[in-house]
Amino acid sequence: MKVVRGLLFLTVIYTFGCGAGENRTNVELIQDMMDQISVKAQDWNPNVDPDFQAMRVPPENTVPRGFKPYPYTLGEVEKASRELRNPLSGQFGAEVLARGKKHFEINCAVCHGADGAGKGPVASKMAVPPPSLIEGKVLGYTEGRIFHAITLGWGVMGSYSRQIRKEEDRWAVINYIKNLQKKAN
Ligand code: HEC
Repeated sequence: MKVVRGLLFLTVIYTFGCGAGENRTNVELIQDMMDQISVKAQDWNPNVDPDFQAMRVPPENTVPRGFKPYPYTLGEVEKASRELRNPLSGQFGAEVLARGKKHFEINCAVCHGADGAGKGPVASKMAVPPPSLIEGKVLGYTEGRIFHAITLGWGVMGSYSRQIRKEEDRWAVINYIKNLQKKAN
């Protein structure tokens, strides 16, 4: 009996379940889902007076999943320099350096140079030249200060937080820069 019922069930699924063809609607056994109030994105929605937009603006302070808001504004550079702590501080193992090198060479070397000396291939074309990261003022920067510059950008340099999404990867870039500094000085 069980087998017969099972076969019957499979036959019903096979007959009505799928494969109705591109332009034909399936036979719907349970029709509750056919009649619903969902609206298409970009569509007109008569239920949301006064703007009638189907797409809603997310509530204030909504953030995407996995997103961690950066707690400093651009102007709070001194505060960020003081307070930010590198979770990879002092770690110069092969793995951390390889990770930093990868992101540095993809995102920074074109301007700051592969050795960090500020002579990347496009540097000479820039009105405000990229500074050397291995001498001068940047040598005196805290790790937090560099993190701030990568995360929000600095002056004419844009933010790289979208290119280097993971905070830890940004810190690895900083370790890589620290290592370049050590090698150069
Ligand atoms: C398109 C070229 C360009 C790229 C790519 C670039 N920078 Fe810069 N960077 C600059 C320029 C130009 C300045 C100077 C900005 C100014 O003073 O207005 C600068 C400044 C800096 C400073 C000094 C900031 C300060 O507070 O004084 C640091 C540190 C730095 N960059 C690190 C990086 C790192 C790390 C990357 C890669 C994630 C990177 N930059 C990618 C052009 C670039």
